[in-house]
Amino acid sequence: MAEKMDAKLDYNNQESVEKTAPVNRKLRVGIIGCGWIAGSHIDSYKRMEDVDIVAGCDLIPGKAAAFFERNGVANVKTDYASHKEMLDDASLKLDAVSVCTYNRQHAIPTIYALKKGVNVLLEKPFTVTLDEAIEVMKAEKESGKVLSSGFQPRLDANMQMIKKIVQSGELGKVYYIQTGGGRRRGIPTPFGTSFIADETAGLGALADIGCYSLDMVLNAVGYPKPLTVTGYKSDYFGKDPSYYPDHPEYAKAFGVDDFAAAFVRLEGGIILDFRIAWAMNIDTPGDTIILGTKAGLRIPSTDCWNGTVGGPMKIYKTIGGVNMETEVPIIPNKGGSLFDKKIRSFLDACKNGTPAPVPSSQIIYNQAILDGIARSAKLGREVRIHVPKID
Ligand SMILES: NC(=O)c1ccc[n+]([C@@H]2O[C@H](COP(=O)([O-])OP(=O)(O)OC[C@H]3O[C@@H](n4cnc5c(N)ncnc54)[C@H](O)[C@@H]3O)[C@@H](O)[C@H]2O)c1
Repeated sequence: MAEKMDAKLDYNNQESVEKTAPVNRKLRVGIIGCGWIAGSHIDSYKRMEDVDIVAGCDLIPGKAAAFFERNGVANVKTDYASHKEMLDDASLKLDAVSVCTYNRQHAIPTIYALKKGVNVLLEKPFTVTLDEAIEVMKAEKESGKVLSSGFQPRLDANMQMIKKIVQSGELGKVYYIQTGGGRRRGIPTPFGTSFIADETAGLGALADIGCYSLDMVLNAVGYPKPLTVTGYKSDYFGKDPSYYPDHPEYAKAFGVDDFAAAFVRLEGGIILDFRIAWAMNIDTPGDTIILGTKAGLRIPSTDCWNGTVGGPMKIYKTIGGVNMETEVPIIPNKGGSLFDKKIRSFLDACKNGTPAPVPSSQIIYNQAILDGIARSAKLGREVRIHVPKID
């Protein structure tokens, strides 16, 4: 028996990103790392009336200058050899930076910026290792500045609906979660090897898209502490030269995972069953499901997994002995792109001194699971997860 949920219900899910911060003065913003994702950051910053983009840097000489010219932004200082030189330039009076570097260079510039008293929007995944994440969080606490992480799918109305369903208590006590997703053929090499080389990426599909799957469900259930992990990683596709007919040399450069799976115990008696793939011989490794004592929720996966809801969700419940299914229609997102909302909510936190929209206090558990999976896969056994209290 199926019933449609009223699509006109007020889902009231955009409040945090539609508000406009009081504009006292423009925020002076810089971009660290001028590659692919920096293009989305600059597009959004250009749409914000209370932002002056004043500086940018990249390790590759000339790349930052070419980036700003290509994006039509003038009067930006770019004559820096690294993030350090840019952050040392006191004349810039930076309020905030976007850290858009590859994963292995997430922690170092973020810590340096926070120590210089600059707010940071750090791209996902948070870091590569848990140790790095702890150091980043310590620098954040010492600085008192805003540190937010680049999980824009969180701002999707459908993602927020998952959390509302769980938090409403409709599912009862949640005891089992299956999540993850994948692409049949989707190892990301659009601009070379920064996603696949160990020196730059550190982790592959596990962190790149796995962090989104984890955030989808952990955010919904209130980010319980992870306790133990049994993890697995493989690289059968990434290491195969025939995978890249135009660039067989990428197989040699491949130093990360293209598939990962794990069994995670979370505080509160919740089991998390996880799998993620950049490449696999199947259409999907399964939908996300959240099982509770009163009802279950199915969240369809997508064939190009990037952390979005793939279709109408379904709530499964038995009432008076009758099995029922309630469809939750796809909710259209209002008020700009998810990326604009990510940038706006970060800027609002910087201006108002309010908490980061995607706080490290949650994302550290996401990182602890990624780190636990990598450690467990290496050791070939279950590992305990310990996240120290960071004041
Ligand atoms: N939120 C999203 O939707 C999304 C999408 C794609 C990528 N990302 C994330 O963004 C990050 C960057 O990805 P990308 O595709 O733009 O990579 P990229 O390789 O295209 O660009 C990274 C750039 O950072 C530069 N760099 C590295 N360390 C630096 C440093 N210390 N100082 C200055 N410049 C430095 C590199 O030279 C390079 O030009 C990754 O962590 C990725 O996971 C997020």
